Amino acid sequence: MIDRIDHIAIAVQNLDNAIDTFVNLLGCDRSSVVIHEVPAEKVRAAFIPVGQTKIELLEPLGDDGPVAKFLSKNGEGMHHIALATDGVVEESKRVMELGLTLLGEPSTGAGGKKIVFLHPRQTNRVLVEFVEPKPDH
Ligand code: CO
Repeated sequence: MIDRIDHIAIAVQNLDNAIDTFVNLLGCDRSSVVIHEVPAEKVRAAFIPVGQTKIELLEPLGDDGPVAKFLSKNGEGMHHIALATDGVVEESKRVMELGLTLLGEPSTGAGGKKIVFLHPRQTNRVLVEFVEPKPDH
């Protein structure tokens, strides 16, 4: 079941500057920001809590990962919307039966959570991520 937006992700050139911008914008404490390095995705990601959801800031590691490619094509801006589900594999199967396409198999993303992305071609050019929060989260 999908029951909420887990996070909205923004691609940025400089993570530290973007953290400053959004911490100031939200008026929150910088100590609430959680940073993950995800070498498999070639990104550094900062999560800033906003109530039950989060803003994720994505900075590329190197110049050949998916976020680096996104930035060179589109510049900074909205990157994806992540929907929380208690079953990434089950939801993936459900939407594939509807004709949607996954971008790869479910894998482990930032913070060790199970994730998968859907091809934006079939979702109004919005990149959608399913994310399975850990039970203790
Ligand atoms: Co994400």
